[in-house]
Amino acid sequence: MQLGQDIHYAAKLIKTGKLVAFPTETVFGLGADATNDRAIASIYAAKNRPEFNPLIVHVSSVEQAKMLVEWNEVAEKLSRAFWPGALTLVLPRKADSPVSLLASAGLSTIAVRMPAHEKAQELITIAGVPIAAPSANKSGRVSATKAVHVAGDFAEENIYILDMKGADLGLESTVLNISDADVTLLRQGAIAQAEIEHVLGASLVCSTDAADRPSSPGQLLRHYAPHKKLRLNATSVNTNEALLAFGSNVPAGAHTVMNLSNTGNIQEAAANLFAMLRLLDATDASSIAVMPIPDSGLGQAINDRLKRAAS
Ligand code: TXA
Ligand code: MG
Repeated sequence: MQLGQDIHYAAKLIKTGKLVAFPTETVFGLGADATNDRAIASIYAAKNRPEFNPLIVHVSSVEQAKMLVEWNEVAEKLSRAFWPGALTLVLPRKADSPVSLLASAGLSTIAVRMPAHEKAQELITIAGVPIAAPSANKSGRVSATKAVHVAGDFAEENIYILDMKGADLGLESTVLNISDADVTLLRQGAIAQAEIEHVLGASLVCSTDAADRPSSPGQLLRHYAPHKKLRLNATSVNTNEALLAFGSNVPAGAHTVMNLSNTGNIQEAAANLFAMLRLLDATDASSIAVMPIPDSGLGQAINDRLKRAAS
């Protein structure tokens, strides 16, 4: 961990796949290049999350957002009223979106937000890439509103912390799903529900348990699942199975093989997980066999996601 105030250095780190904690007007974010799977994997590793939750992708303009997601009229209206600011919009992923599938946890939607904090905007602009950033706290801890809080949580990690003032709101952004006909409130936050309803001239459907507790019943945040059946902990394969391999000891005979990491690197495996699952799902194999993945570090999050996909 290193504290500093050099925004050009921070932008360079982002561009080279490193992590930078930065202030926004809500809370500090732990940022990485949203288009870089390996960089996103290191966010999850640093946060120590046992599962992959989709991250908010921060942009410096509406134009940049439009390159990532399918924009719509509601997005136009809400961005005019509340951007830059503490409102996060969940929209369909564009077919050619450069955003890492790991950043959106394999979902077909992406959460975007244009922060109002001047330094956050500057960082995104100079880096020249959208920045994926969850709140800059370890999993299970409260969100950070000061650089020293971030430093306390991430003392051991290789991250650069922009030591600047911010987080005056002290509350995370409000998260809205506007990817369907109904506008759904996924998380209460710094912008009040009533303000949003006033702008829309309509009531919001509330599903505020869903966003932060994706496993709760009636969830709106659906997890990515392949169409094909998954068979976990496979140590042998047959010829009509596609194989999602891990490590060097790969059984022979599969229809198609993709290796999460030849060298058995768990962070590389996390970076490849959703993209490879999608590729294998698109083959004409009858099902997907998955080799055992060690259940430590990011392996826990990988196994959590594979178990959900298999059930
Ligand atoms: O104020 C904030 O929002 C801060 C600053 C750094 O921008 N960020 C933040 O990120 O609070 P995080 O990762 O702690 O929370 C992101 C929320 C989660 O509740 C997540 O489930 C939801 O956004 N989310 C992200 N992508 C989503 C998607 N595609 N569909 C549904 N919910 C999504
Ligand atoms: Mg958080």
